[in-house]
Amino acid sequence: MLSMLKVRLNRLQRIALYILCPAMNSPETPCIRPMTEADLDAVLLIEKSSFPLPWKREHFLHEIGAPHSYPFVAELDGKIAGYVCLMSLFEEAQILDIAVAADQRGSGIGRLLMEKSFDVALEKGAEVMALEVRESSAPAIGLYQALGFKRVGIRANYYESRENAVLMEITIKEKT
Ligand SMILES: CC(C)(COP(=O)(O)OP(=O)(O)OC[C@H]1O[C@@H](n2cnc3c(N)ncnc32)[C@H](O)[C@@H]1OP(=O)(O)O)[C@@H](O)C(=O)NCCC(=O)NCCS
Repeated sequence: MLSMLKVRLNRLQRIALYILCPAMNSPETPCIRPMTEADLDAVLLIEKSSFPLPWKREHFLHEIGAPHSYPFVAELDGKIAGYVCLMSLFEEAQILDIAVAADQRGSGIGRLLMEKSFDVALEKGAEVMALEVRESSAPAIGLYQALGFKRVGIRANYYESRENAVLMEITIKEKT
């Protein structure tokens, strides 16, 4: 009985994902869709291999359920290739977390996730998007600069009390 219910739930999940991600059968087109609890094993693998202090499952569960949080995954050929956690409240949006699987980096997925975040933040009424990034994360800083973010400050020794955080911002209202 329980296994029949599981099969039925899995089928329903697949149908729901297909509706959210009609292009998911195309191997070349990443689909950006809302993160669900079923994505978390894959998301956590990427998270652990991307950050020295990775977020735990509870962090992502919180983002999935929080009213002003908008976590998205990029799905490529049925696999999670990356994700972004956006928070948007009144006029300010923040990127809380973003990562792309190591073997998928450099193919435009980070940019797609950020562009989705711009669209959603604008739709929710945000005017500015902010984030903080490790000073040593050259690929991330490169991505943000390529999108038009500017450095607006430094938080000294913010990460593990020894690495600076670079604060970056972009006025998204002017982007449209
Ligand atoms: C940062 C990260 C999300 C970028 O994702 P990605 O899918 O590789 O990025 P994209 O392929 O979309 O690249 C978009 C732009 O970012 C910049 N960029 C990407 N990789 C870069 C690198 N290694 N060095 C410098 N700039 C880079 C480029 O301007 C690039 O545009 P281009 O391809 O036209 O030159 C990815 O490197 C990652 O997951 N890093 C580990 C986690 C992390 O540091 N997250 C940021 C937390 S603040």
